[in-house]
Amino acid sequence: MGNRTALITGSSRGIGLQIARHLAAEGFALTMSARNEPGLADAALTLRADGAQVLAVPANLAVEDDVRRLAAAHGDHYGGMDLLVLNGGVAAQHPVADTPMKTYDLLLNVNLRAQFVLVQAALPLLRHTAAERPRHGAKIVALSSITGKVSEPGLAAYAASKAGLISLCETITLEESGAGVTATAICPGYVDTDMTALKKQTLAAEAMLSTRDVAELVMAVSRLSAHAVVPSMVLTRAGNPLWRA
Ligand SMILES: NC(=O)c1ccc[n+]([C@@H]2O[C@H](COP(=O)([O-])OP(=O)(O)OC[C@H]3O[C@@H](n4cnc5c(N)ncnc54)[C@H](OP(=O)(O)O)[C@@H]3O)[C@@H](O)[C@H]2O)c1
Repeated sequence: MGNRTALITGSSRGIGLQIARHLAAEGFALTMSARNEPGLADAALTLRADGAQVLAVPANLAVEDDVRRLAAAHGDHYGGMDLLVLNGGVAAQHPVADTPMKTYDLLLNVNLRAQFVLVQAALPLLRHTAAERPRHGAKIVALSSITGKVSEPGLAAYAASKAGLISLCETITLEESGAGVTATAICPGYVDTDMTALKKQTLAAEAMLSTRDVAELVMAVSRLSAHAVVPSMVLTRAGNPLWRA
């Protein structure tokens, strides 16, 4: 049996790139994806320079055909899938009263609908690998958010998409764990990445979680047997935020 394989969306930078680095260091062969081709190519090149096997597939999560093509590219290249990391996502901040519906649609489309489509498209590959490695199974890890657990003002559309992702993970485990496929939603507070650039005007980068902290949790989930499931887990910042982002 060959290397374990993982598909990570939004892996050209931020949390997704860190997860890709950790997985490659553990010997996973990867499919990396994002919209921006040069950015994705650079990220893939860096990992390959460290010896990783990387397939880079540009895809826009807002486009259903791209999402299905991404899963198919991984399947054609590797023949199965041990781990699907639903990481790519977008954020926006507006009160409910002033949220443009265009923004709402974009957040729900990219952060939830695309993840649903990708799970649908990847399930045959995940089931196939789970059947080949019954002790380990195959896993889905979704980057939700602490706001998917506890609401914050200004983040209604984002939080709704992330709460949906927690629910999706639970349903996947209920429906698919008999076939060896389980799902986990990771729910961090603020992480120091491009996504939190604006937030850094009021919260220092050093006070945020690091991408490494998040990647460590993904690695822990990736090592569990097929019999153990963490439906979701919250990663909060030290100090007094606890259930706040
Ligand atoms: N940063 C935080 O505080 C935080 C906290 C909790 C949860 N999260 C979640 O963690 C995940 C990663 O966040 P991050 O902070 O690493 O974000 P980031 O630094 O903004 O990186 C986002 C990644 O997703 C890709 N992406 C964005 N829109 C896309 C689209 N429409 N189609 C395909 N790829 C797309 C980006 O590449 P391209 O732009 O080239 O497409 C990039 O690779 C997200 O789901 C986010 O909601 C983040």
